[in-house]
Amino acid sequence: MISQETIDAIFQATHIEDVVEEFVHLTKRGVNLKGLCPFHDEKTPSFTVSPARNIYKCFGCGKGGNAVNFLMEHEGMSYPEALRYLAKKYNIEIAETQMPEEYEAEKQERDSLYLINEYAKEFYRNQLFNTDLGKSIGLSYFRERGLLRKTIDAFELGYATTSRDELTKSAVHDGYNIEFLRKLGLTTEQDRDFFFNRVMFPIHNLSGKVVAFAGRHLVTDKKSPKYINSKESDIYHKSKVLYGLHLAKKAIRKEDFCLLVEGYTDVLSLHQSGIENVVASSGTSLTVEQVKLIKRYTQQIRILYDGDTAGIKAATRGIDLVLEQDMNVELVLLPEGEDPDSYIKSVGVTEFKEYLEREASDFILFKTNLILKEAGNDPVKKAGLIKDIILSLAHIPDPIKRSVYTRQCAELLKVEESILVNETNKVVSKRLRDNRISQLRENRSDHEIQEKILEKERKKAVAENWQEEKTGTDEYQERDIVRILILYGDRQIEVEKEKLTIAQYVLSEIQETLPFFDNPLYAKIVTEYGLALSEGKQLNTDHFIRSADSEISSLAIELCSSPYELSENWQKMWDIRLETQPMPDENEIQDAFQALYRFLLRKYQKMSEENLKQIKEFQSNGDDESLLKHLQVQTMLVDQRNKIAGKLNTVIL
Ligand code: CTP
Ligand code: MN
Repeated sequence: MISQETIDAIFQATHIEDVVEEFVHLTKRGVNLKGLCPFHDEKTPSFTVSPARNIYKCFGCGKGGNAVNFLMEHEGMSYPEALRYLAKKYNIEIAETQMPEEYEAEKQERDSLYLINEYAKEFYRNQLFNTDLGKSIGLSYFRERGLLRKTIDAFELGYATTSRDELTKSAVHDGYNIEFLRKLGLTTEQDRDFFFNRVMFPIHNLSGKVVAFAGRHLVTDKKSPKYINSKESDIYHKSKVLYGLHLAKKAIRKEDFCLLVEGYTDVLSLHQSGIENVVASSGTSLTVEQVKLIKRYTQQIRILYDGDTAGIKAATRGIDLVLEQDMNVELVLLPEGEDPDSYIKSVGVTEFKEYLEREASDFILFKTNLILKEAGNDPVKKAGLIKDIILSLAHIPDPIKRSVYTRQCAELLKVEESILVNETNKVVSKRLRDNRISQLRENRSDHEIQEKILEKERKKAVAENWQEEKTGTDEYQERDIVRILILYGDRQIEVEKEKLTIAQYVLSEIQETLPFFDNPLYAKIVTEYGLALSEGKQLNTDHFIRSADSEISSLAIELCSSPYELSENWQKMWDIRLETQPMPDENEIQDAFQALYRFLLRKYQKMSEENLKQIKEFQSNGDDESLLKHLQVQTMLVDQRNKIAGKLNTVIL
């Protein structure tokens, strides 16, 4: 393990901008640097790097963190890998701590397991290329299937001969522990080889280490299964592995979508044809862990189904878990009797790609079409189908997307769109109601009692916020900004002759402060708003009330329903006279500006306090150059703060 001292030294030496700059083109903007976000598609830069805080944050997609997080997210490194990378970059010698004994033993065992798999992989490769049987059976099989040497090498394919104990004998002879061979499932309890007379597909983890094998038989023998796999072990959990991901991850990020196919050979075949953003769930139906793996690289999944209807229904059921992860899913059904491997061979890459573009349909339309076919003209079945679709529609988080789908489904099902809309809304609002009620905890119907509970909770929240004021978080101010955005974000205002919405104005003013938000929920809402604006969409109160994210919807509901919650503490804290506004709704513009200035005031106050601390430090250690720089920054911060405080006192529109 890397020692804590080393980790501290690495973090101290690291400049986030140096690290990010290797992957993203950055330009200076004020105290920060900006660039096009590497984690989502965008045309105007909202990816912000703050050298002062040593963090990055994307205003568009919300991703953020320190240099280690960046490397993990962007390069798929593990935590220790990222630390080692930085240590190398900044010439820091790594001190390893003594590991606790148990951990040490466990790690040693895992290392041994990897080593043995590596050994077996080389063994199978050697048999493929350098034995008579390997060449005449294994290699000629791969050739027959059109696999080139470079693909065989890239995926490290191999061959297990007809001998029943060659691998086990050879490994033991070379000093490997037979216990570990058994643990990996390479050797049976009878000390014989598990894999024989099969072509071998190593299964790799994200960093390209072999964790398991699949072996395909070469004789069409109905008695033995076509593929057999290594059993699960300490290094192989089949629900957490995607076949081919170690080779696909770069392309997935680049193309910003991931093709998911059923078979190993499909992955090989597409990869060889230059379609590299492809993985297979290899025998299992898709799992949450697998979806999360893909989500590290993209939000878009396109699932290719073999043209036999067998697996399709099971597959559409699995889609829910992809949706829950807030991913976009498209499905493609290949022509009857084809799988991706056979189809790309028969029509070629260009037509294959065109087919995908043409045939890809969003999961819900796919599902509609599919069950529609099944229901035929049976009215009872069709009614059940409509119910089913409504439930699916109600699960779409984004209301705009939802309404597009609703329209398309109505067309397909040949029912009035309004019926679908009404029914779907019923489901959605029932969910919202449920959320709210469970939030109130008390399930009382009496309106007055509910109001009282709300009021009590509100007071408690204000009190807590006031408490938090003292401990230094900015949640109250952030909440104010969110309140303005949710309630009045879409109202038009005019600033310096420019017509724009309150949201546009507020967001442009606070953009720099977003990395410093204390409350993640508020940060999420602001980020979502920013993303929508950057796509030319204006959000409104309804959007948030109907959000599928129950945290967001209950916050929106609360903000709409609770009385105006401007705390008197503001006046005490800042010694600033605020215009009291009993009816904020009638003057939301002034309200918005005040909230904004209060927020900015607070943030600048905090920044200058921090800067002051650093100044004191530089004074005491005599670092004059840094001292000068920070003194200048201090002047700037204080100026800003005073300007804002002035505005806060005088803002009248
Ligand atoms: N599979 C499995 N065990 C089986 C059959 C299939 O684990 N007995 C898994 C494998 O991951 C396989 C995938 O299901 O790759 C798809 O099955 P299939 O289409 O039959 O295999 P292909 O990969 O297309 O193999 P081939 O083209 O060689 O027939
Ligand atoms: Mn197949």
